[in-house]
Amino acid sequence: MDVVILAAGKGTRMKSKKLKVLHEVGGKPMVAHAVSLARKLKAERIIVVVPDLNDSIQTTLNDPKIIYAVQKKQLGTGDALKAALQSIKTPGREILVINGDMPLISAGSVKRMLTTHRKSKSTVTILTFHITKENGFGRVMRNALGHVERIIEVRDASKDQLRNTETNVGVYLFEGKYVTGAINKLRTSNAQKEYYLTDVVSLASKNKRVVSGVVLQDEAEAMGANSQVDLNVLNQVFYSQQRQRFMMDGVTMVGDEIFIDANVKINAGAQFFSPCYLQGQTRVGSDVVVETGCVIKDSHIADGVHLKAYCYIAESKLDEGCQIGPFAHLRPQTELSSGVKIGNFVETKKARIGLNSKVNHLSYIGDALIGKDVNVGAGTITCNYDGYNKFQTILEDGVFIGSDSQLVAPVTIGKGAFIGAGTTVTKNVSANSLAVSRVQQKEIHGWATRKRAKAAE
Ligand code: UD1
Ligand code: CA
Repeated sequence: MDVVILAAGKGTRMKSKKLKVLHEVGGKPMVAHAVSLARKLKAERIIVVVPDLNDSIQTTLNDPKIIYAVQKKQLGTGDALKAALQSIKTPGREILVINGDMPLISAGSVKRMLTTHRKSKSTVTILTFHITKENGFGRVMRNALGHVERIIEVRDASKDQLRNTETNVGVYLFEGKYVTGAINKLRTSNAQKEYYLTDVVSLASKNKRVVSGVVLQDEAEAMGANSQVDLNVLNQVFYSQQRQRFMMDGVTMVGDEIFIDANVKINAGAQFFSPCYLQGQTRVGSDVVVETGCVIKDSHIADGVHLKAYCYIAESKLDEGCQIGPFAHLRPQTELSSGVKIGNFVETKKARIGLNSKVNHLSYIGDALIGKDVNVGAGTITCNYDGYNKFQTILEDGVFIGSDSQLVAPVTIGKGAFIGAGTTVTKNVSANSLAVSRVQQKEIHGWATRKRAKAAE
C-alpha cells in the first residue's frame, strides 16, 4: 500500500503565514501526525504533496524516506493526488489518501477500511462520519441499496442535500490502477472551480465499480482543522486523550490543564499538578513530582526528581532525586547529578553540577563546571560574558562560595576552597584556601547618637 498525504493547500482560512498542515496539534505538525499514521500502517511508500516554491514541509519533516510531489498550482485535492501519482512510476495495488489536516485519524479506523475494501472488492472506500452539527464537510450520497454514489461539497449542495448527516472525513482507499486513470477525467465544473478528488467517487460509481463507505464512530477522529478555532478544539481533544492514556498507565494527575505533547514519555508513578506543560522529546521518570506552573521542554527528568512550582526547564538533564525550584530557570545544557538542589530564582545555563551540590537562592550559573558537595551561596553570579565571548567557571569538589560573590570567568576554584561572602573572584583560587576581597569594615563609635542629637537641635 502507498500512502499519499495531501498537504499543498494554502489553508487561507487559518489566516496564518505558516502552511496549514504545519500548525501543531500536541506540539507536532498536523502533517507529521499523518506521516506517523502511514508508518503505523507499514506503508510501502509515503508521498507528501507539497506546494511549489516553499520547502517548509520538507524541512520540518526532515525525513529522506519520504517522497515529495510538488503541486505547481493549488487547483484542488484531485489535482494534488494527480501530482502524487505522477511522482511514482507505477501505482501501488492500494493507495490510501489522507488529507493532511486530519491529525486524529487512528490506524484502527484505516485497518477497518482496508478490511471492508478487500472483502467487498471495492475500487474506492471512503471514511464517513454522521455529524450532529454543520462542520462544512462534503455530504456522502448513497443510493437505495446503501452504496456510495457521490460526494457533494457543501458549496455545491442543495438545502435538501445538506440535511444528509453522513459526511466525507477525508480518508480514501483507492485501487491504484483505477485511480491513476480516473484522476485525469476530473473536471472543474463546481462552485470552487477546482479539481475535486471526491469526484472520483461518482466516476467509479458510474463505471459500476463498488464504492464503500466505512462509518467512523469516534467524533474526535473526524475532526479536521480549517481554522484556528478548529485547531484549538483539536488540541483540546488531543491533550485530553493524552491525559487519559497516561493516567491509564499509572501517572497521577491532579487537575485538567496538563498538556503533554505527542513525543513525551512518562513513567508510571509520576505526579503532576495542573497547570503544567511538557513539550518536545521530554522524558519523565517514576516518582517524579511536577508542581503547578512548570514548563518542561526537551529534557530528561530521572526518577524521584521534585520540581516545585513554576519552574521552566529546557534541554536539560536531571539525575535522580534532584530538587528544583520554586521559580527556577534551567536553560539548555544544564546537567544535574543526583541529589542536586536548585532553589528559588536561580538560573542555570550550560552548567554541569555534581552530586549533592546546592545552588539554593538567587544565583546565575552559566558556562560552569561544578563538582560534588559544592555549596553556592545566595546571590552568587558567574560573570561568564565580557560582551564578546563566553568563559567557563570551574568549582572543584567541596568548594564553598559565600553569599553575594561574583566569579569572573575564566576562573577555577580549587578543591575544598572557601570564598568569603561578597568576594569578587578574578583570579584562580588554590585548593583548601580562603579567598576574600572585601573593603575592611570600619566602625565609628557613637556616630548615630551624635547624628540624632544634631537633627533634634
Ligand atoms: C475536503 C473534501 C471534503 C471533506 C473534507 C474533510 C474535497 C474536494 N473536499 O474539503 O469533501 O469533507 O476535505 O476533510 O476534497 N490540498 C492540496 N492541494 C490543493 C487543495 C488542497 O494539497 O490544491 C490539501 C490541503 O493541504 C489539505 C487537504 O488537501 O490538507 C484538504 O484540502 P481542504 O482545502 O482542507 O479541503 P476541504 O475543504 O476541507
Ligand atoms: Ca480540510
